[in-house]
Amino acid sequence: MNYLTFALAKGRLADQTMQLLAQIGITCDEMKEKSRKLIFTNEDFKLKFFLAKASDVPTYVEYGAADLGIVGKDTILEEGRNIYETLDLGFGKCRVIVAGFGENREKLSKSNNLRVATKYTNIAQNYFYEKQQTVEIIKLNGSVELAPLVGLADVIVDIVETGSTLKENGLVVWEEICDLSARMVVNKASMKMEHARIADIMAKLQEVL
Ligand code: PRP
Repeated sequence: MNYLTFALAKGRLADQTMQLLAQIGITCDEMKEKSRKLIFTNEDFKLKFFLAKASDVPTYVEYGAADLGIVGKDTILEEGRNIYETLDLGFGKCRVIVAGFGENREKLSKSNNLRVATKYTNIAQNYFYEKQQTVEIIKLNGSVELAPLVGLADVIVDIVETGSTLKENGLVVWEEICDLSARMVVNKASMKMEHARIADIMAKLQEVL
């Protein structure tokens, strides 16, 4: 039997994924040990797991380096890879929003000179394109809320979970773009070649979700 390989977005999502998989009897003891290992194996089930940067998970899955991946919907939308999205795992719930200061919202929200800072340039581009609003998108790699505070941008397109980062920095939600959560993604060839095993995992997950 071939190994079935999972690519997990490292961090909180990976921990929650392993908790969910444990509920359907899939575990990986090797992963619990503190080490610098990058790939973990469960020989009994012929499974491999590896942790990758979230934005790379769809890439590993598209190329078949992993058969399955668990990653946020934000990453799936942003990366636009040729993969199947098969299951909403229900955790990691948050939203993509446009946020800015409350006071200049009226003046700026329809402006065609809006400067938008974001980690999600494709999501932002598509959103404003659909709205037929011309904007200037500025790519940042983190702490995006800083941009309007220091005058780099008028608004941000970012993820909000509890809303406390926005609130503590005097920003408010101007527009909602979409809801997010963790999703299972599958390589297109693996879906055919390993259909029985993948369908079995999906069916068991659906039962516990
Ligand atoms: C994310 C997001 C917001 C924050 C939202 O950033 O980009 O900054 O979390 O969470 P909240 O609504 O619960 O306050 P993350 O912590 O992933 O790091 P980053 O700023 O480096 O992107």
